[in-house]
Amino acid sequence: MKIRLEGVSKRYATGTGEVNVLDQVTLNVREGECLGLVGPSGCGKTTLLNIIAGFTLPSSGVVYVDGKAVRGPGADRGVIFQQYAVFPWLTVKENIGFGLTLRANFRPRWEREEIVRRYIDLMGLRGFEEAYPKELSGGMKQRVALARAYAVNPAILLMDEPFAALDAQTREVMQELLLKIFMQESKTIVFVTHSVEEAIFLCGRIGVLTRRPARVARVIEVPFEYPRSRRLRTTLEFVRLREEVEDLIRGEHSETEKGGTRDGTASDDLHDVGSVYVGDVGMGSERSAGAG
Ligand SMILES: Nc1ncnc2c1ncn2[C@@H]1O[C@H](COP(=O)(O)OP(=O)(O)O)[C@@H](O)[C@H]1O
Ligand SMILES: [Mg+2]
Repeated sequence: MKIRLEGVSKRYATGTGEVNVLDQVTLNVREGECLGLVGPSGCGKTTLLNIIAGFTLPSSGVVYVDGKAVRGPGADRGVIFQQYAVFPWLTVKENIGFGLTLRANFRPRWEREEIVRRYIDLMGLRGFEEAYPKELSGGMKQRVALARAYAVNPAILLMDEPFAALDAQTREVMQELLLKIFMQESKTIVFVTHSVEEAIFLCGRIGVLTRRPARVARVIEVPFEYPRSRRLRTTLEFVRLREEVEDLIRGEHSETEKGGTRDGTASDDLHDVGSVYVGDVGMGSERSAGAG
């Protein structure tokens, strides 16, 4: 396992008392996979990603990367945020090469230029090398942010709704770009999104989180082979899986419903494709009482 989360809980102290954000989250991320994390807004997705990144410490539980407990940020983990984290005072080229000028990932100038050129090409930024971020569209800025994260070659990329601020059309283009890069570079990706469609399109498995405090409701194996094409989104299997996961997030789906009120075949198909049942979907399980 590349990343292991073991019983990760997080409580924040606020003016009005404590907020329980994560409740005993246990989850594995396999080497080289793109694992999606979806869940209701405000359930703790960003908190969880920040804990893996080492920006935030859990209240209890441990995150292991390559078997070593995470105690802070590291060069093995790159992070991409929703808000374009590009430096406005640097050109596209300088932004992409920035990490390679720092001590942790220092490369001599010639090598830096080679790497920057490679990611300029891969991200479709040719012709914009000398442009400043303010001259770029949102999608282009996010390409620069992706290029910069990839340029320092971390084994793990943690992405927090990287395409959420983009318009629908740009978002689809970026998703296809990410799939293309995913095929070319062997990275382990944790991809947080509130869009179930995006998670299914990009990811090999999806961790579905419950409402706050977030627990893992289920880990779903996405049954579609890579490489994936845009047509996948309109297939019946894709649409059914999306509905199933969206129901799960809304809390409409429960074990007793299986094969009951829902169309039996749709539901059974899903479970045949290898969904891994990890936890209880319902809110009031015995685990909440015993946890912590
Ligand atoms: N530093 C903090 N102090 C107190 N509460 C926080 C802090 N960070 C996040 N929260 C709360 O934790 C909950 C989960 O937030 P977040 O992880 O951003 O959720 P998501 O990314 O799923 O929308 C929210 O209710 C948020 O208000
Ligand atoms: Mg968030």
